[in-house]
Amino acid sequence: MSRLVIVANRVPDPKEGGATAGGLAVAMKDALANREAVWFGWSGKTAAETGTEAALARHGRTTFATLDLGHDDYKHFYQGFSNAALWPVLHYRLGIARFDRRDFAGYQRTNLAFAQALAPLLQPDDTVWIHDFHLFLMAADLRALGCKQRIGFFLHVPFPPRSVFNGLPHAEKLLEALEAVDTIGTQTEDDAENLRAALIAIGKGDVAMRVGAFAIGIDATGFAKLAAQRANAKEVVRLRDSLGGRSLAIGVDRLDYTKGLPQRIAGFGAMLERFPRHRGKITFLQVAPVSRGDVAMYRALRRELDEGVGRINGQMAEPDWAPIRYITRAVARPTLAGFMRMARIGLVTPLRDGMNLVAKEFVAAQDPADPGVLVLSRFAGAAVELDGALIVNPLDPDDIAEALDAAMDMPADERLDRWNRMWTSVRAGSASIWCRRFLSALEGTTDVADAGQAEAQPASDQPEKKPRRKRAA
Ligand code: G6P
Repeated sequence: MSRLVIVANRVPDPKEGGATAGGLAVAMKDALANREAVWFGWSGKTAAETGTEAALARHGRTTFATLDLGHDDYKHFYQGFSNAALWPVLHYRLGIARFDRRDFAGYQRTNLAFAQALAPLLQPDDTVWIHDFHLFLMAADLRALGCKQRIGFFLHVPFPPRSVFNGLPHAEKLLEALEAVDTIGTQTEDDAENLRAALIAIGKGDVAMRVGAFAIGIDATGFAKLAAQRANAKEVVRLRDSLGGRSLAIGVDRLDYTKGLPQRIAGFGAMLERFPRHRGKITFLQVAPVSRGDVAMYRALRRELDEGVGRINGQMAEPDWAPIRYITRAVARPTLAGFMRMARIGLVTPLRDGMNLVAKEFVAAQDPADPGVLVLSRFAGAAVELDGALIVNPLDPDDIAEALDAAMDMPADERLDRWNRMWTSVRAGSASIWCRRFLSALEGTTDVADAGQAEAQPASDQPEKKPRRKRAA
């Protein structure tokens, strides 16, 4: 089997396998176990200049190849164009995007530097799979350097309607660069439709045909097992004891303005206002580790949340009960799995999200004999699959309040019925199936047009197809 070359801005720490690994590393686990691989990207460190040669470290059958980012590129590529312009635009927030031509120049420079450092490491029959919005231009840069390998690109975040995307200066350049990609993946069919329409509008109908939806999943049974194992771990017992018999509602998100945290907190406050019988009966734990803390919008959000939580706690708390507990430190994944299992309600209410794997993890973590209720934003990609959740509009705190009230009162048989539906879908759309489906589209065994219909079926269940279009050498 040919080598798999994964390219992503973030490269996992090879020592942090299994339970602590992030979403992409989990999704890649099976593929990496089965073939020789390279994982290429940013080292997470900054230096005077962006590296020209990747530092290599071998673990098992995978070579980790990383580059430091120069201070300027960190500022303009990562903080600037990626996180202050592209991120908000892709999440439908054109109005808060900050554009600066120096940032776009940094983005172009860094994509090219990545391509230049990767090209000499490639072997002729490698399959290259580039991930996410930081690297829209890299496939085109690799082609310009003469690379003929198969290249896939997967966008983990949403793709907005083209009227929004085109508000981004140089939007067309990003779309044009996708011409160099053989298979382009998005999370949902809506994202795929938006991206196709944007490509068709610039005369790239042929590229639009390479776009397909591939919903990412989690290691469902692994996470379920982890949650069950941690049910009586020390930290979990400490939390349970501290609740004094009250129900727990939990939210787990990076501290990001796309996650709808102020609205969620307002929704929880509105629930206590409008349905006072729940006062003193439920505690909401929001875990929101600080993320991208050196980008201005993220600092402003932190202040807003501090105020919002303080206000509700100040108004509603009793001497022996505070309605909201709010943690901006990271909590270890195994502990979170145990917390989720204990929770009566999972609150996942992003204003816009590519998929949202926390929603799937909450489902996997539940005790099958007494599952909790998921309150889920209609604007998370996961809402397409998780129809057993209470679906809310995350912009409407009253909608969240009503769903919380319904979740608190929901009888056990309804909870079970809703959870069973979701658990079936989470298991069927696992991370390894996502990976296999994308790779079989990229490596020519499945047509990308059929990818959406393959939903929730193991790739091995798919009929083998003739290799589709091959790249001209
Ligand atoms: C999202 C993006 C990822 C990114 C992650 C963490 O999930 O889709 O590409 O790595 O956020 O953000 P950070 O800026 O810390 O890499």
